[in-house]
Amino acid sequence: MSTATPAPIPVRSPLTSALAGATAVLLGGTSGIGLAAGVLLRSVGARVVLVGRDPGRLKTAVDQVRGAGADGDIDDVVLGVSGDAGDEEVLAEAFDTAGHVDHVLLTAGGLTGVGPLTELSADDIRGTLDARLWSVFAAARAAATRLPAGGSLTLSSGILVGRPMPGMSVPLSIGGAAETLTRALAVELAPARKRVNAIRYGRIDTPLLRAVPGHGSDEAIATAGSTIPLGRVGTPEEAAATALFLMANNYVTGQILTVDGGQTLL
Ligand SMILES: NC(=O)c1ccc[n+]([C@@H]2O[C@H](COP(=O)([O-])OP(=O)(O)OC[C@H]3O[C@@H](n4cnc5c(N)ncnc54)[C@H](OP(=O)(O)O)[C@@H]3O)[C@@H](O)[C@H]2O)c1
Repeated sequence: MSTATPAPIPVRSPLTSALAGATAVLLGGTSGIGLAAGVLLRSVGARVVLVGRDPGRLKTAVDQVRGAGADGDIDDVVLGVSGDAGDEEVLAEAFDTAGHVDHVLLTAGGLTGVGPLTELSADDIRGTLDARLWSVFAAARAAATRLPAGGSLTLSSGILVGRPMPGMSVPLSIGGAAETLTRALAVELAPARKRVNAIRYGRIDTPLLRAVPGHGSDEAIATAGSTIPLGRVGTPEEAAATALFLMANNYVTGQILTVDGGQTLL
């Protein structure tokens, strides 16, 4: 069997007409999967509001997403709001800045709360829950209140939720809570014709994955990908295309979609 890493097949979205002219708020949209979603959304004619904490990263991301539009670099179709996705004032600013929001994607996250449960301090655990779990609920409350009928919220999880590794109790509990909230809120919001879904990501080649010990180089990423059925880790665009599908399909709600190159089949 060849050891060469198979090349990704570029994402070509079939959803152009469904999302053209729609507005999406991307919480965590300045890097990785969220940024790739911004580029894909802009390339199909959507308006995009990027939210992230680091102002420098935000500016770079806004410029990158603006450059992805077929209609050129139009200021008001790509907006940036700097702040924490768990801050309800920041969320209100993002919605107000957009004026009208059809879809929300939450990809804000990071490598916090990692370690055996008994070796983490209570403050470490509470701090991670406050920052990461609360941002899931804050985004859900904002989406539930402000999205119109036909709008959608997409949350993030990961395949380790179903196949845990030691030292991941706290982050995986947050992913599990996001999945449960997805199903519960989908039922709660269905009468208002608002949809809620989540994505379980496998290994996706983003700055977050590259910060995981043992994944910091191209060689390490290729090695990690070689054990996955499709032979490589996923690209941010492939992960983001899953989010665009969930935004565009008006009959999908309460679902947890896995994008992992087949890793969970093994
Ligand atoms: N990549 C993977 O292999 C993988 C696997 C499983 C699950 N996931 C999940 O997928 C999601 C996206 O991951 P990624 O790989 O795209 O990560 P990433 O490249 O690190 O991007 C995360 C983004 O979120 C922003 N962010 C983090 N905390 C924030 C906060 N409190 N408020 C606002 N923005 C915040 C970051 O910018 P600032 O730091 O400037 O705010 C950045 O733009 C995460 O929830 C992650 O846990 C990823």
